[in-house]
Amino acid sequence: MSKVMILNGPNLGRLGSREPEIYGSADFDELTRQVLAKAKGLGLMAEMRQTDSEAELIKWLHEAVDSKSNVVLNPAAFTHYSYATRDAAALVTKAGLKLIEVHLSNPHSREEFRHTSVISGVATGVIAGFGAGSYLAALDLLG
Ligand code: DQA
Repeated sequence: MSKVMILNGPNLGRLGSREPEIYGSADFDELTRQVLAKAKGLGLMAEMRQTDSEAELIKWLHEAVDSKSNVVLNPAAFTHYSYATRDAAALVTKAGLKLIEVHLSNPHSREEFRHTSVISGVATGVIAGFGAGSYLAALDLLG
């Protein structure tokens, strides 16, 4: 059974109350339920995690390499400036695994600082702007 780690960066644990006009009214637990149900339907062995810590996110990307798991990554604000997250994401794709960068919103239609992703250049691909659908589409591509 193919493995996938669905990793989420800072402030995504506040979904539901965080800028609902942008991110919707579902909280992180609800997003997790939808994502894990989809993964189960596709026969994927999936884990969904969230952290506000860059160090922890990097550790999880290393774990993905070691356990040969594909990754769906919402790096949240780390998207825009974290070269350390980029380097760890590159380890995943260089190992021949897939890493799909996802975003709930479309960062390109928002503030200018969100138009840059330092992650996209080492990702297998990027899906943004479809809310939870961004994650579900990423899983379809891995399933
Ligand atoms: C986000 C977009 C980022 O710009 C922002 O910092 C986030 C969430 C998204 O899913 O739309 O925290 O990654």
